[in-house]
Amino acid sequence: MNRLESVRQGVDAILLALASDEDRRCGFIHLYGVSLAATWLAERRGLNVELAAVAGMLHDLSTYATGQSTKHAAASARLASRLLERPGTFTPQEIATISHAIAKHSDKASIDGPMDELLKDADVLQHWLYNPALPFQASHTERRVRLVKELGQGA
Ligand SMILES: [Fe+2]
Repeated sequence: MNRLESVRQGVDAILLALASDEDRRCGFIHLYGVSLAATWLAERRGLNVELAAVAGMLHDLSTYATGQSTKHAAASARLASRLLERPGTFTPQEIATISHAIAKHSDKASIDGPMDELLKDADVLQHWLYNPALPFQASHTERRVRLVKELGQGA
C-alpha cells in the first residue's frame, strides 16, 4: 500500500469510530476534500503532491479525534507527527514539512512558506467548493479572491 493510502486508512479508522453521523460525514467530506484540493494545487504550483495530500488528510484530525477545536492546528500537527513517525514511512524532513503546514493552517491572514500557503488555500477552497452559497468566513475571503484569480489563469 502506498503512503497516502496508509495515512487514509488511519484517518478512516478515527472517523469511522465517531459516534455522530454528522461528525463522520463532515470529517470525510472536509479531510478528503482538502486533500484533493491540496493535490491539485501542488500539481499546479510544482510542490510535492504526496506531502500536500497527506497534510490535507491530517490538518484538522485532532478536532475530529478529540471533539476540541481550540488550538486544533497545533494539536493536529502533533497528532500528524505521531502518526507519521512509524518506522520506515516518512523521513524527519517530510514530517517536519507536513506538521509545519498543519501548525500554520489556521493563520489565514499571514503569508508563510509554499507548503503552508498551499494547505491554507486548500482549506479555503474546500469550504468554498462544498457550497459557495454558505456564509464564508471573512478571514477567508481575501484568499478565495486570490485563488479564483490564480485558478482562472492558464487553466
Ligand atoms: Fe480545515
